[in-house]
Parts: sequence; C-alpha cells; structure tokens
Amino acid sequence: MTFDRSIRIAPSILSADFADFGREIRAIEAQGADWVHVDVMDGHFVPNLTFGPPAVKAFRKHVSTVMDVHLMIAPVDPYIDAYAEAGADILTAHLEAGPHIHRTLQAIRGAGMKAGVALNPGTPAESVAHLLDLADLVCVMTVNPGFGGQKFLDMTGKVRALRRMIGDRPIHIEIDGGVDPVTAPLVAAAGADVLVAGSAVFRGGSVDNPAPYGDNIRAIRAAAEGARAD
Ligand code: DX5
Ligand code: ZN
Repeated sequence: MTFDRSIRIAPSILSADFADFGREIRAIEAQGADWVHVDVMDGHFVPNLTFGPPAVKAFRKHVSTVMDVHLMIAPVDPYIDAYAEAGADILTAHLEAGPHIHRTLQAIRGAGMKAGVALNPGTPAESVAHLLDLADLVCVMTVNPGFGGQKFLDMTGKVRALRRMIGDRPIHIEIDGGVDPVTAPLVAAAGADVLVAGSAVFRGGSVDNPAPYGDNIRAIRAAAEGARAD
C-alpha cells in the first residue's frame, strides 16, 4: 500500500478560545479538521508560553482524530514520557532545540508515538538528511515560531528539496505558519501534505457559530488540492 499523501488540514488551537478548548476541538473536528495541532511553548525556546502536559492530557479527551503536538521547548527529552502519557499521537521536536535531535527522535518513537522534526526558517532541508529513517513527519516552519497570525515566509524551495529527499519514504511534510487559501497552493505544489492553520481556520467563527471554521477549512483544502502536482 502506498503512503497516503492526501492533503490534511490541522487547525492550530493556538487560535482557539483558551477558556474553551474542549468545545473548540470538538467544533473544528465536526467542521472537517483532519488533525488537531497543539502548540506547546515554553517562554525559553520561543518568546511565548502556552500549556504543558496536564493541559494536553485534558485536550486528548476531546480529540477523536489525531493529536499532533508541536513542541517549541528546550530541552525536549525530559518531557517525552509526559507527552506520551498525555496521549500525543505525533510528537514533533525542533532540530534547533538541542544538540541531540537524533536521540530525541529515537526516544519519541521508543515512547510509542510518531516522531516529527521541525525546522526553523533559517535551517536548511539538508540538516535532516541523516534523520529521515527516524522521522514520520518533517515540519517546515513558514514563520519564526512563537506566535499565530504572522506573515507567511516562502519556504517552497526547502519543501521541494525535502520532497525529493523523502522520495517513497512514509514521511509527511507539514507546513506551519501563515497558511491560508493564498499560501496553501504554493506549499502543496511543492510537495507538502499536512497544512497547519490557526488564524485562517478560526477567523470569523466561534464555538457558538462554528460554520465559518468549516468554510475556512474547505477553502484551504480546495486551494491546496487544486495545486497538487500528483
Ligand atoms: C507558530 C505555531 C503555529 C501557529 C500557526 O509558532 O507553531 O502552529 O499557531 O498560526 P497561523 O496559522 O495563525 O500562522
Ligand atoms: Zn505549530
């Protein structure tokens, strides 16, 4: 069976109502989200602070798709078991978060999760060349991590290079930052299959009026699918 590279939309709950995560997660799933993207920030690796393992464990009860946890923390290794226990399906660590990303990816898989490696905008595609056998996902940051609602940085050259390096390996290419119906086609055409979107999914809606979430998800998906090379 070939690896499924169909377009997946992963709304980031960084743009949700922080006082109502459970209902927000259920609303985006009901409106067509494929995965739920959870941004963990530590106020150290990135200049913003969100939530940690107990909150992520509470989110899990509301996620029926895939909980995609993006760690923007350093160090990572002391917390891997806590995120496994919290119920992460995919745990992504930044290549820049420490000197031993190879060990970190091994440990994530060893704890029973899929392993992702995220690359800041300044980090080249080639830096994952010797990590591909340990990764289930490569996350290409198209903003400097830390905040939602930033302007998309064009990383299509990096995505193309990764797509070539990955070849037939079962590895997702995820894009995170500034994804909307205008930018989604650029990265989809370059070979990305998982699109994280925060502000472009949540804008215009709320838990009491979730229909705009669905419209926004469909608009991003349609734009991306229309640009697919394969
Ligand atoms: C940025 C986060 C993103 C962010 C995306 O540090 O990793 O997931 O929430 O937000 P938008 O889609 O608003 O750029
Ligand atoms: Zn993220």
